[in-house]
Amino acid sequence: MDGILVRGGKPLYGSVKVSGAKNAALPILCATLLSDGESHLRNVPDLHDIATTAQLLSTMGRPVDAAPPSVIVRPGTVTPEAPYDLVKKMRASVLVLGPLTARYGRAKVSLPGGCQIGTRPVDQHLKGLEAMGASIKLDHGYILVESGRLRGAQIVFDMPTVTGTENLMMAAALAKGKTTLVNAAREPEVVELARVLNKMGARVRGAGTNIIDIEGQDELAPFDHAIIPDRIEAGTFLVAAAAAGGDVLVDNVRSDDLEALIAALRGAGVTVEPDGTGIRVVRTGTLRSVDVTTAPHPGFPTDMQAQFMVLMCLAEGTSRIAETVFENRFMHVPELIRMGADLHVEGHTAHVRHVTRLDGASVMATDLRASASLVIAGLVADGETLVRRVYHLDRGYEHIETKLGGLGADVTRVRGLAS
Ligand code: UD1
Repeated sequence: MDGILVRGGKPLYGSVKVSGAKNAALPILCATLLSDGESHLRNVPDLHDIATTAQLLSTMGRPVDAAPPSVIVRPGTVTPEAPYDLVKKMRASVLVLGPLTARYGRAKVSLPGGCQIGTRPVDQHLKGLEAMGASIKLDHGYILVESGRLRGAQIVFDMPTVTGTENLMMAAALAKGKTTLVNAAREPEVVELARVLNKMGARVRGAGTNIIDIEGQDELAPFDHAIIPDRIEAGTFLVAAAAAGGDVLVDNVRSDDLEALIAALRGAGVTVEPDGTGIRVVRTGTLRSVDVTTAPHPGFPTDMQAQFMVLMCLAEGTSRIAETVFENRFMHVPELIRMGADLHVEGHTAHVRHVTRLDGASVMATDLRASASLVIAGLVADGETLVRRVYHLDRGYEHIETKLGGLGADVTRVRGLAS
């Protein structure tokens, strides 16, 4: 098992280029199932989750040439079944459910297993497909869907769900008639998927607002598309530079996608300015505490909460960080406490009190973004931090040690750790 060894205390200088967005690439890879032809994705990040999705598509019968940043999905005869072995590796595999049902009238997809950051059910995905005429059974850990051609419907989500919105947008793109999604997720990755569906010949309107209309088509065409930059990777570098101090250009960023984070960083006394195709972040002085509450986009992203907490550990005063999207997303807290952070959690809120320093320690990564927070903590800590179980990190950050190393951080991968 790999770990990341960080020797802390070095400010970051230079520029780093952000890769394509994992959470945009995953649904777009699944959207290739909506047409029979060859589709080409560009600017795809080289990550385990992409490899898992490529393997899932090829297991189902669509050969994939995955050579990120280029991924080509070729035509093939599809068996619409997503086995447990692949779905268990990645919850987002459930994104094949909508396209398979819409294109083949049936699907057998393993229920995603329990996830460390909460129960994360898929009831909204299923409710939407049922409203479109599918009949659904749960059987021995599998979701079994049978449908004729799906029919357009009005679907009101109980809460904005990103992959739920994406699954139903894809299903609706081949349904008969118009579908309206109400209380839809507004994330930039949803807007990106709508762009691709429109390239394929669907008529999707309103993506980016909480009401999305989709006019279903009889068939859709293959596509060629370059994926948007990853706002969470970008945000992670912004916070890393703010925490470690220094002057960094985070390049290939759409600052409109990061407004809530940028506002919070500015509130903390960090200079954050658009610069060409990127964002320049400079931190020389002391940090001020800021309260943040995670919320669906355009609110403060839950995927940036753990990283921002590290920054707040170093800020003067007390910061309250409330997590409203997932019920169990504070697993980095005990690890940060082991590094000397002064944190306590009450319900959905972490109270973060200022400490003058963090200490390097051996820590355990528990999920993707928690892992990133521990690497950032390592950058600012005295001495050495060994972040174990970085396979989580490899699911979402392309070559993170090389990118941080390019900014002057002392970060190395250690292979073959016992656990
Ligand atoms: C996506 C992102 C993930 C991010 C999350 C929230 C991908 C591949 N992953 O995850 O990085 O942290 O959005 O921004 O894009 N819920 C239900 N029933 C459902 C669906 C969701 O109760 O059927 C709940 C979830 O438990 C959670 C909330 O809705 O509390 C939001 O989850 P959702 O937006 O669906 O997260 P994902 O799409 O899984």
